[in-house]
Amino acid sequence: MPNSIPAYSLPDRNRQVLLTTRPDGIPQASHFTLAETSVPEPGEGQMLVRNIYLSADPAQRGWASSEANYAAPVPIGGPMRALAVAVVVASRAKGYAEGDFLYGFFGWQDYAAVGPEAVLHRATEDLPLDAFGALVGINGITAYLALTKLGRPVAGDTLVVSTAAGSVGSFVGQIGKSMGCRTVGLTGDDAKVARCHDRFGYDEAINYRTEDIAAAVKRAAPDGVNLYFDNTGGPILDTVLRQMAVGGRVVQCGTASVGSWVPAPTGPRNEREILTRRLVWSGFVIFDHMADYARAASEMAQLWRQGKVVYDIDLAEGIEAAPGAIASLYAGENTGKRLIHIG
Ligand SMILES: NC(=O)c1ccc[n+]([C@@H]2O[C@H](COP(=O)([O-])OP(=O)(O)OC[C@H]3O[C@@H](n4cnc5c(N)ncnc54)[C@H](OP(=O)(O)O)[C@@H]3O)[C@@H](O)[C@H]2O)c1
Repeated sequence: MPNSIPAYSLPDRNRQVLLTTRPDGIPQASHFTLAETSVPEPGEGQMLVRNIYLSADPAQRGWASSEANYAAPVPIGGPMRALAVAVVVASRAKGYAEGDFLYGFFGWQDYAAVGPEAVLHRATEDLPLDAFGALVGINGITAYLALTKLGRPVAGDTLVVSTAAGSVGSFVGQIGKSMGCRTVGLTGDDAKVARCHDRFGYDEAINYRTEDIAAAVKRAAPDGVNLYFDNTGGPILDTVLRQMAVGGRVVQCGTASVGSWVPAPTGPRNEREILTRRLVWSGFVIFDHMADYARAASEMAQLWRQGKVVYDIDLAEGIEAAPGAIASLYAGENTGKRLIHIG
């Protein structure tokens, strides 16, 4: 019955992954502790959700950091902030009912008592459940909105994408291809280069660890790069900036290659490249675009149904896999969206 706590007894333990020390750089498994507490009671206006898939995301590094960011740091001793796909098991929140599947900020834990403000998306599309943590999770939606709203691709553009075989990057490449772009992927090993070609339909794919990036991008984009979707920052970005076409656009979506922001890293000065090539360089944070989430989810679901976009899940089993999951992403060990199945 909606808006009331159902009359069955709930489990009495809630496993949580707590942030117990503040990482300096990339969070390692040792920064977290697995603990057990009681299952929280939802207050008035809240619901109790049971997590099914926990998400591991590069952004969690920023959330765990004490450095100024776009989000307040996760408190030491608190459950790690994380996205998850969950089912409502009891509701005192208007408009939410037991059995609703939701995607939102429910943390690395079995259960969370949350209000509607924690929910990013309600799983209404007819899709596999894991799609709500990938295709229409922040990865797919970031790819869609950052590319279409900031990158504004037009047919015939050469689109270069870093972390090309990863979750966001693979969607960007496929959406760009569906819009008529020539797509070039940058990724970190030969197996991922092959996946870029065979699975995600890139026209060209480059191993940034073994190839001369400047020469390879020049070969792949002899007339210059019209649109660069960057998820790495650092030397990869510095190199691609010097291969941009006049009037090119750069979407800054991630900075995965930068080990630490303190002290501020130094590198080549690129302002002359921006000026002479008349580049537009835009920063994207998904949480500024929540009003467009449902529309983007519907578009992504449609692209998937039409076979224009595929997605891969890199699935780990059990909450014990969570503490090491962020470091593993930064080691490039994931093939597809890293989800942890716990329910
Ligand atoms: N701005 C936003 O709102 C927003 C939202 C979601 C995600 N993002 C960003 O999008 C990017 C991709 O996220 P995702 O969730 O899809 O993760 P992902 O690409 O599935 O996994 C992260 C990938 O980063 C690459 N990487 C790690 N360390 C690197 C390094 N030192 N140099 C170059 N590449 C490195 C690895 O790919 P390779 O093996 O190919 O190197 C790794 O597989 C991240 O930067 C993330 O912060 C931004």
